[in-house]
Amino acid sequence: MNKFYLTTAIDYVNGKPHIGHAYEKILCDVICRHFSQRTDDVYFLTGTDEHGIKIQKTAAANNMTPQQLCDENSSAFQQTWKDLSIEYTDFIRTTQERHVKAVQKIFKKLVENGDIYKHSYKGLYCSGCESFLNQRDLTEDGLCPDHLKKPEEVTEENYFFRLTKYKDAIIKHIKENPNFIQPEFRVNEVLRQLEDIEDISVSRNKNSVSWGIPVPDDEEQVIYVWIDALSNYITALGYDTDNPSETFKKYWPANVQVIGKDILKFHSIYWIAILMSLGVELPQTICAHGWITIDETKMSKSLGNVIAPADILKAFELTEPDALRYYMVTSAPFGRDGNYSDNDFKEKVNADLANNIGNLLNRSLNMLVKYFDGEIKPEFIVDGNDIEKAGDETVEKVKNFFDGYQVAEAANAIVEFSNTVNKYVADNAPWTLAKEEKMTECGIVIYNVLEAMRKIAVMLYPYCPKISSKIFTQLSADKNLKYDEITANKLQTGKITEKEKISPVFPRMDSEFAADKKKAK
Ligand code: ME8
Ligand code: MG
Repeated sequence: MNKFYLTTAIDYVNGKPHIGHAYEKILCDVICRHFSQRTDDVYFLTGTDEHGIKIQKTAAANNMTPQQLCDENSSAFQQTWKDLSIEYTDFIRTTQERHVKAVQKIFKKLVENGDIYKHSYKGLYCSGCESFLNQRDLTEDGLCPDHLKKPEEVTEENYFFRLTKYKDAIIKHIKENPNFIQPEFRVNEVLRQLEDIEDISVSRNKNSVSWGIPVPDDEEQVIYVWIDALSNYITALGYDTDNPSETFKKYWPANVQVIGKDILKFHSIYWIAILMSLGVELPQTICAHGWITIDETKMSKSLGNVIAPADILKAFELTEPDALRYYMVTSAPFGRDGNYSDNDFKEKVNADLANNIGNLLNRSLNMLVKYFDGEIKPEFIVDGNDIEKAGDETVEKVKNFFDGYQVAEAANAIVEFSNTVNKYVADNAPWTLAKEEKMTECGIVIYNVLEAMRKIAVMLYPYCPKISSKIFTQLSADKNLKYDEITANKLQTGKITEKEKISPVFPRMDSEFAADKKKAK
C-alpha cells in the first residue's frame, strides 16, 4: 500500500458538534492512525458543509449573517476535533474560495457534458432533508417521515442533473465490486433506491435560497447542496476540471469514504453519477456507519438530549479523550447503530482500560520491581511460547479487521487478547512461583505479560494514543509503532523500570460522583 486517502462527511454548521458527529470523526481518526502504522502516506480529510437553507434560516433567527454563523460553528467543530485528538490532514470549508471556484468549474463541465438542463419543477420540498420527497415516501398524514413536518409545495425553474443517465452504469459497478458499498448488508437497500431514481434538482432560485454558490452564467440561481457538498472530496485535493493538482493525482481515488447511513444514497448514487459524468475515477469503498442514540432515544434539539463531546469529558473530569474515543467506536458493531449512556461508558472503560489492560500492566511492572529490581534478565526471554503466539495472531486479526474498516471488531480482538493474558497470569501465578523461589519461571511469566502489553500498546494506539504512549514510557519500550515491525521489536534485557515510574495508565472512573455532578448542571 503506498497511500491511504480517507474522507468523512462534512458536518452542517447550522448547529454545534454532538456525539453523533464525534462518533464518525473518531472512527475515521482511528482508521487513519491504524493505517499510518502501515504506510507513511495517509491523507485524512474532514470539514464543514456551510451552504443551504437551514444555515440561512438559523443565521437569520440568531441575528447573524450566514458567514458569521458558519465561522462560529466551524470553529466549534475544529475545537472539538482538537479536544478529541483528531488529527486530520486538511479541513475544508465549503465557503472557502478554493472550493467555490472549483465547484463552479465542475458545474460548467457537467453542463458541457449535456448532463444539466433547465426544467420547471413542482414538488414537495422538505427543508429538513434539503430535498424533494415523493408522495409515496410521506407518512399517512402527509408528513416527512424523518422530520415529521409537512413538506412545502414548491414550483420553480431549476437546473436538473441527469441522474437517470447513469443508473445502469451505477448498478453494474455496485454488482461487480462487492467491496464498493460497506457493510455489505446495505447493498440491497441502495439497489432498491436505484430502481426508482429520477433526475435531481441541483440549483434553487435565489428568491428561495440565497446562501449558496452562484450558478456560473446565471444570476438567478445558486447551486444547491449536493453538487456543492459532495465535491469537497476532490476540491480539497485541488481537483480542477482542466488541470488537476499533483495532490489530487496522488491521493484520488479515495480508499474509503466514511459517512452515516442517512446519507448513503447521496454518496453511492448521486456522487457516483457526478464522478462518472466528470470522467473521474470512483472511490474504492463507501462505508456507512450506523446511528448513535442517547439512552436509546434519538438525539434531537426538541428532546433536549443533544450531548456535546466536551461536556462528557468535563462531567467525568477526563483530561484526555482516550476513554471516550475508545467507548464511542466500540459502542456499535460494524455499520450498526450504537448507543451512548453515562453508565455504559463508565463500565466499559473501567472494565477494558482500567481493569483489563491498566491493572495488568501495573501489577506486572510492580512484580518486576519487587522480584527483580525492575530488570529483564536474558533467561526470561523464551521464544515461541503460547502468549507470544496469541499476541501475533491478534496482530494479524486486528490488521484484517481494519482492512474491512471494522474498528469495533478490531478493538474486541485486542481486549480478548488482554483477557487471555490476564488468564495466563492467574493460571501461572508468578507470586506463587516467587514464593517457591522458582525465579526464572517467575521472570518468564512476567516478561511474557510485559511483552504482550507492548503489543497491546501498539494495537491500542489508534484508539487511545495517550494511554498507549504512557504504556510505552512505563515499559521503556521503543515507541516504534510500525505494524510490520511489531513482532521483531521485542522488549530487550536490562533494567526497564523502577517503583517511582509506575502509575496507573488509566485510573478507574469514579463516575457516580461525576454523573451526579453532570445532572446538577
Ligand atoms: O449530512 N449518529 O451533515 P450532518 C451517528 N452536511 N452519526 C451521525 C449522527 C448520529 N446521531 N448525526 C449525524 C450532513 N451523524 C451533510 C453531509 S457530505 C458531502 C455532506 C453523521 O451534520 C451523519 O450521518 O447532518 C453524517 O455522516 C455526519 O454526521 C454529518 O451530518
Ligand atoms: Mg444530518
